[in-house]
Amino acid sequence: MKAIFILTVLIVQTNCDINITRINLPEEHLPYYFRNFPEQCSQEANCKGYLNKNVCWGYEFDCEWSNHYSKLKCPGDHKGWVKTKKAQETTFHAQADFGYIGQQLRELQLLCEPLFPDDSSLECSDHLQFCRGRNLMVNFTKLLHRDDPIRYKMDVLGEGDIGGYCDLKKSALDKQADQISPLQSWAPEIRHFKQLKRRPIIEGDCDVVVEKPTFIMKIDATVNMYHHYCDFLNLYASLHLNASREDAFSTDVHVLVWETYTYRSAFRDTWEAFTDHPIWDLKTFRGSTVCFRNVVFPLLPRMIFGLYYNTPIIYGCEKSGLFDAFSRHVLHRLRIPEIARSNGKIRITLLSRNTKYRRVLNEAELMNGLEEIEEFDVQRVVYDHDMPFKQQLEISRNSDVFIGMHGAGLTHLLFLPEWAAVFEIYHCEDSNCYFDLARLKGVKYITWENTDKLTKIDDGSYSGGAQAKFVNYKFDREEFVRLVRKAAEHVKGHEGFRKYISHTRDEL
Ligand SMILES: *[C@@H]1O[C@H](CO)[C@@H](O)[C@H](O)[C@H]1NC(C)=O
Ligand SMILES: *[C@@H]1O[C@H](CO)[C@@H](O)[C@H](O)[C@H]1NC(C)=O
Ligand SMILES: *[C@@H]1O[C@H](CO)[C@@H](O)[C@H](O)[C@H]1NC(C)=O
Repeated sequence: MKAIFILTVLIVQTNCDINITRINLPEEHLPYYFRNFPEQCSQEANCKGYLNKNVCWGYEFDCEWSNHYSKLKCPGDHKGWVKTKKAQETTFHAQADFGYIGQQLRELQLLCEPLFPDDSSLECSDHLQFCRGRNLMVNFTKLLHRDDPIRYKMDVLGEGDIGGYCDLKKSALDKQADQISPLQSWAPEIRHFKQLKRRPIIEGDCDVVVEKPTFIMKIDATVNMYHHYCDFLNLYASLHLNASREDAFSTDVHVLVWETYTYRSAFRDTWEAFTDHPIWDLKTFRGSTVCFRNVVFPLLPRMIFGLYYNTPIIYGCEKSGLFDAFSRHVLHRLRIPEIARSNGKIRITLLSRNTKYRRVLNEAELMNGLEEIEEFDVQRVVYDHDMPFKQQLEISRNSDVFIGMHGAGLTHLLFLPEWAAVFEIYHCEDSNCYFDLARLKGVKYITWENTDKLTKIDDGSYSGGAQAKFVNYKFDREEFVRLVRKAAEHVKGHEGFRKYISHTRDEL
C-alpha cells in the first residue's frame, strides 16, 4: 500500500515537471500564471512554490494594485498633468502597462453571438483594435485573380469574404468600424463580416479547416527593429488579452501574415517566442476558403493611442510591467544566456553603425577615452547581417551601459538589465523616440547635452529634409567620457546591480 502511494507521488511530480517545461515561461512569471490557472498545478510539490503568492498581472478584474506585476514609478512631477500622484500612476498603468490590457478586456463586445457551442462567434474591443473568433470562414478565392503584391492593403476581403454562423449585431459592428486604415484597426477586414446560413465547418463549406489557434497579423516594416518589435510587443500583449485558457502562451499556434510577400526579416528568430510553426502568408491560402476554429486578430502596431509607436505617456513615469514581462518572455523563450561575471566592472557596449549617415567619425578616439578607465569593460559591436540576431541579443542582455547613435538598433534597450543605462549619443532632433522607449522599459536614458561640443559633417549628398539624421558626426572626447561616467554611476548606484554583483562574488 505504502509503495503504491510513493509511486503515485513520483509520477505526479514528473508530470508537473513536464507541464512547467511545456508552459515555458520565465520562472518569475510562474506565480502569475498559476494564479490564473491554479488547476494546472494542484497537488504537485514542485509547483506549490508558485501557488498562492497573492500576485496578479494587473488586468484581472479582482487584482489589487499592491499585487500587480508592474513596479512602475513616477518620480517626475504630476502637477500640471493630473491632480494627484496616484492619478499619475494609474494613468501610466492604463496607457502603457497591464492596465492597457484591462481596458481592452473591458471593451470586448460580442459582435456575432453563438447560440450553440458549435456556432461561430466574434468578439472585438472598441474600434476593432483586437478581435477573436471561433469557427469563422475566410474566403480567399478572389486573391487568385489579383496580381498586385499585397501589403498594407485594405481590400484583401470584400463583402461576405469573412463570416460565421452566429447572430450578427450589424449596427454594433458598423459603429465600431470607424478607423479605416491598414495598421490601425481590423475594420478594413471585419467590416465585411457576414452572417452565414449554415455552420461552415460542419457543412464542409471550407477547402481547409485550420484546427490550431491562429494569429492573423498585419505587420509593420520588418526591416526595422523599432517597427518590427512593435508587432511583437503587441502580439505579446494580445496573448494576455486572450489568456482565458491555460494554453494562452502555447507556441503550438499558427501565424498568418496578411501579405503576399514571403516573410523575411533579420529579426525572424523572435518568432520562436510565439510559434513552433512556419509563418504563413496570403499565398498559403490564395484561391481557398479557409475555416479557423480559433482565430485572433491581435493589437496592431499603429493604433491610435496604441502601444509603443506614438504611445502617449504621461510625464514623469517609467518602468512598464508589460514591457518588462515582454522582454523577459522573449529572452527566456529564445534562450539568451546571462554571461557570468568574474569581476564587478561595468560592461559598456558601443553600437557602431556601418551606414552612410549618422556615423561617429571619431569613434576610435572616443573608444580610447573609455578604454583608459579601469572599471570599464568596453566593447564595440556592429549589429548587422553578419551577426546572428540571438548573438546580438546576448550582447545587449549582458550590457550595463549601451551606447549608440539615433537609430533602430537602440531598440535593443528593451533587453538591457533593469539597472542599465542607454546613452543615445545624439538623438538627431528626434528627441522622444528612444527616450520614451527607455522610460517604458525602465532603464536610465542619457543623451548629448551640449550641441557646442559636437560637429556635424555634411557631405551635401542628402537634400530631403530631416537634415540632422542624414549627416555624420564628431563628438568631443572629454564630454563623451563624462556622459558615459554619468551612465556608469547610475548603474553602480542601482540596487539591482549591487545585489547582482555581490551574488556573483559569493559564487566565485
Ligand atoms: C499536466 O499534468 C497533469 C497531471 O498532473 C496531467 O493530467 C495533464 O495532462 C498535464 N498536462 C499536460 C498538457 O501535459
Ligand atoms: C468564396 O468566394 C467565391 C468568389 O467570390 C464564391 O464563388 C464562393 O462561393 C465562395 N465560397 C463560399 C464557401 O462561400
Ligand atoms: C484565444 O482564447 C480562446 C478562448 O479561451 C482559445 O480557445 C483560443 O485557443 C485562444 N486563441 C489563441 C490563438 O491562442
